[in-house]
Amino acid sequence: MRYFLVIFGVCVLAVMGILGKRGSHSRKPPLYIFPDMEWQLKLRPQKENAFFANGLSSQLPVPGAIARSTPIQTVHGPVFAYEDAPVNTGRITGTTNFAEHNPLPVTAQLLRRGQQRFQINCSPCHGATADGKGITQKIGAMAVVANLHDKRIVEMTDGELFYVVTNGRNLMGGYGANVTVEDRWAVIAYLLSPWPPLHPMERGPGGEAGFRFSAFQVFSFLYELVQMA
Ligand code: HEC
Repeated sequence: MRYFLVIFGVCVLAVMGILGKRGSHSRKPPLYIFPDMEWQLKLRPQKENAFFANGLSSQLPVPGAIARSTPIQTVHGPVFAYEDAPVNTGRITGTTNFAEHNPLPVTAQLLRRGQQRFQINCSPCHGATADGKGITQKIGAMAVVANLHDKRIVEMTDGELFYVVTNGRNLMGGYGANVTVEDRWAVIAYLLSPWPPLHPMERGPGGEAGFRFSAFQVFSFLYELVQMA
């Protein structure tokens, strides 16, 4: 019985010592047995801190740092990836209407890039000439692939084509995650380009949709291509 009282008393003291008076208010700092992460070395934003030699907690980017997001250069000026602009959505800002024209400046370089990206990303299904007879159809992996020379598809606006490539349509999956915004527009520019070796999707001549490029533009593509060769 004596031992019991002693052990009991020690237990009561221990419990009171560790947990006692919890719930009552006190101005003294509490006793932390396991402080976990309540106190740690950290930088508070916009406050002084001696950790860095210049005494700032919020450091400036190191010289030569590459911005996480660089704007896309469109014919209407630079556009960031987060902006609700035709170059990002294929739609006219603030509406659900598809943009009529490719917002990127169409250069020979863009067409070359588009040709290369088309061959990599689209021709396995749509075929090298975009007639829908790619390898996936030949081996029976896809039953029907759209022929991009179809009048309905040829007459789509550039923005709608961009939308289809980005998000997919019916049996076709979206390629927004695989093909960058610039490359999607490059593919579209390539598909619609009037230069003979490049024009799988012919809109003219004299067709209802017609060419979207002037003779001068065609001439300047040729000139640039000759210079690049
Ligand atoms: C995995 C195969 C596959 C790939 C790769 C693919 N497509 Fe398609 N695409 C299809 C199929 C299948 C259809 C027909 C969809 C339907 O109408 O059910 C289609 C339809 C389309 C259409 C017409 C949509 C409509 O309104 O009928 C366009 C335009 C198009 N693809 C463009 C592209 C472009 C550009 C690329 C490359 C970035 C591409 N596709 C890559 C399979 C593919």
